[in-house]
Amino acid sequence: MTPKEETILKELREAQSFKALEELYKKYLGKKGEITLIFRELKNLPKEKRAEIAQKANALKGLVEKEFKLKSEILKKEAEKQSFEKEKIDITLPGKKIIPGHLHPLTKILREIEEIFSQMGFEVVGGPEIENEYYNFDALNIPKEHPARDMWDTFWLKEPKNPKSPEGVASRPYGAGKIQNPRLLLRTHTSPVQLRYMEAHEPPFRIIVPGRCFRHEATDAYHDVQFYQVEGLMVGKDVNLANLKAIVSEFLDIFFKKKIKIRFQPGYFPFVEPGLEVLISKDGRKWLELIGAGMVHSNVFKAVGYNPRNLQGFAFGLGLDRLAMLKYKINDIRLFYGGDLRFLEQF
Ligand code: PHE
Repeated sequence: MTPKEETILKELREAQSFKALEELYKKYLGKKGEITLIFRELKNLPKEKRAEIAQKANALKGLVEKEFKLKSEILKKEAEKQSFEKEKIDITLPGKKIIPGHLHPLTKILREIEEIFSQMGFEVVGGPEIENEYYNFDALNIPKEHPARDMWDTFWLKEPKNPKSPEGVASRPYGAGKIQNPRLLLRTHTSPVQLRYMEAHEPPFRIIVPGRCFRHEATDAYHDVQFYQVEGLMVGKDVNLANLKAIVSEFLDIFFKKKIKIRFQPGYFPFVEPGLEVLISKDGRKWLELIGAGMVHSNVFKAVGYNPRNLQGFAFGLGLDRLAMLKYKINDIRLFYGGDLRFLEQF
């Protein structure tokens, strides 16, 4: 091997990268490569030398090509090895902790409640959180200036600018143009959905309406500006208070997984007559007011176009947050809405 051949081989073997290797290839066998030039120059040489030089150049060319191929293979293998190294997974390393999400305690309670009532034949329906004055008050037998309106401190909303927006739709006059009270508010209870449902359905039926409600009042451990209610409504020819008592009692027993004592006491809500409050006792001593209820007022039936003479129904509204507080022994309603993970992760 000539010294020139040796240097070329050495250069090729020591190439550190594909790029370097290709540069070398170009240097010798590229268009203007050293060996290429030898071939080009052949025609300028004296005849007798041409054959010899050409032979040598060919040998050199073969040598470079062979070594180039070899080195390419080596570099390829090295690159593969490196990328395997990089991708290697050390299965002995401790894993990354995956924090799975879970349901909010109120969602859990809500689903339980829906399940229990569904099994008792109740349909679950919904209604808008942005309501108008007519459904939230007037048609529930609570006209303007009625003192009972003080029972519900209300968030009133501004006039909607766009009549096609949800707020705009909610504020349209109702009842074939009869009702002209489209002032908007955040519903203070789920009772307006009683009206919406009855306007669109004929009895007999039984429904529950879970939903968020809002009250413009100071917050404390038992009151927040937002909370959840579950409305119940059962209407038919001879639905009566005994049915209400049976349904509520059955529900509570299943919900708390034990026999719960209940007690009715008179209560006033303009949309029921008689109206009552359901008190419950988990220990038979302390009584807790948990549910507002009563027989649907004839004015409510009239407002939805029913004939109150041949229909009866009961309605109730229970505070979902209160139920959740009782079940989980939580002493502050505001914890549900605070988003504090230390609290939420306990469920
Ligand atoms: N809507 C009432 C409230 O929020 C509760 C209720 C519902 C009372 C149905 C009677 C019947 O206070």
